[in-house]
Amino acid sequence: MTTSHPSREALRERAAAALTAARVRTAGLTDSVSDADLTAQHSPLMSPLVWDLAHIGNQEELWLLRNVAGRESMRPEINPLYDAFEHPRAERPKLPLLGPEEARRYTAEVRGRVFDLLERTPLEGSALLDDGFAFGMIAQHEQQHDETMLITHQLRRGAPVLAAPDPDAPFDPPLVAEVLVPEGPFTMGTSTEPWSLDNERPAHVRDTAPFWIDTVPVTNAAYLAFIADGGYREPRWWAAPGWQQIREHSIEAPLFWYQEAGQWLRRRFGVTEPVPEDEPVLHVSWYEADAYARWAGRRLPTEAEWEKAARFDPATGRSARYPWGDAEPTAALANLGQRHLRPARAGSYPAGASPLGVRQLIGDVWEWTASDFLPYPGFRAFPYREYSEVFFGPEHKVLRGGSFAVDPVACRGTFRNWDLPVRRQIFSGFRTARDV
Ligand code: AVJ
Ligand code: FE
Repeated sequence: MTTSHPSREALRERAAAALTAARVRTAGLTDSVSDADLTAQHSPLMSPLVWDLAHIGNQEELWLLRNVAGRESMRPEINPLYDAFEHPRAERPKLPLLGPEEARRYTAEVRGRVFDLLERTPLEGSALLDDGFAFGMIAQHEQQHDETMLITHQLRRGAPVLAAPDPDAPFDPPLVAEVLVPEGPFTMGTSTEPWSLDNERPAHVRDTAPFWIDTVPVTNAAYLAFIADGGYREPRWWAAPGWQQIREHSIEAPLFWYQEAGQWLRRRFGVTEPVPEDEPVLHVSWYEADAYARWAGRRLPTEAEWEKAARFDPATGRSARYPWGDAEPTAALANLGQRHLRPARAGSYPAGASPLGVRQLIGDVWEWTASDFLPYPGFRAFPYREYSEVFFGPEHKVLRGGSFAVDPVACRGTFRNWDLPVRRQIFSGFRTARDV
């Protein structure tokens, strides 16, 4: 893997630009709703938006001002309120949180001090400072909460407040439905990507048997065929806890879908519209993805299979940073960064294909994999156990690739996301695979 070594000034500018881009997005997500909507809990699964806002500032203060710069706490009394491990999301509305104005003022004050620090601190000399890692980590953290806040927007009832143009992506339907990935070793994970997070490290060799993988994510049309075939009424397709979940909650379609006069409609950021047939399916649980795959006579790809399909170039034997190579994402390569409020239709972004010809691996929808969230061999928690390590184990499944709501700073071929297999409010879809 090669990553160019930017000059110190370029690195500083990159860190400042990443922090500023995150704050512009945070402002768009929090200034677009009333104070009542900022402090309300729109779903027990989510925090009030005003909690995310102050938590963003509090994590930035913790890592950049207290840890890197060695400063005292600005407001020690609020730290426990914004520690995600002290209070589960459902409890957060009852806490004495900072109000909207106070939360805005606090996060802005932290940011002002962070920019002063960034000007004066050498971006080398410790693991947190090298390559500006701590600044990159904090920009990613804010972008991750921006995606979380976008999920809260999607769950919120009421008139739409967000708008974005529909994708106008390059479109060129692929000729084949699936791609053969050859057997053999490939490099998984990274030891060189400067802002990669602890769970992506270190690079190591994995072997896979040969397998077939879908060229594009599973579409709404394909998923509708599963529904129409009685997929939600047939226990043999379902893992036992998934069957229990759909029975208990009367689930018969992806979240936000409902049927009216024989037509499937969906609610999307406050707008109701027919389910578009050629778009990747969105808002399905791991259990729904797993059941669909079994019904289709297929299976979910493992995490290693997904990454090999995305990064491995059989011509060179190398794993690239992205499917299209090592260059940063552009609007012609992938649907990222909330430029649109939906995935692009399946078959978009031919220029973003991997060397093997697999499409739309990065952006559009998070893709469920078959795999539990586990550490790579040689994993070391950094800089805190609560980012990844405490979540390792069979209860969380890995998602790969990133959705339309992920910013490029928090997305790459090695990036690992995870969630409980029952979750469906996230921007999740999937593709399927099969043995040769
Ligand atoms: C990596 C998306 C699962 O949102 O729970 C945010 C990211 N970690 N603050 C999450 C995260 C701490 C995390 N995910
Ligand atoms: Fe957080």
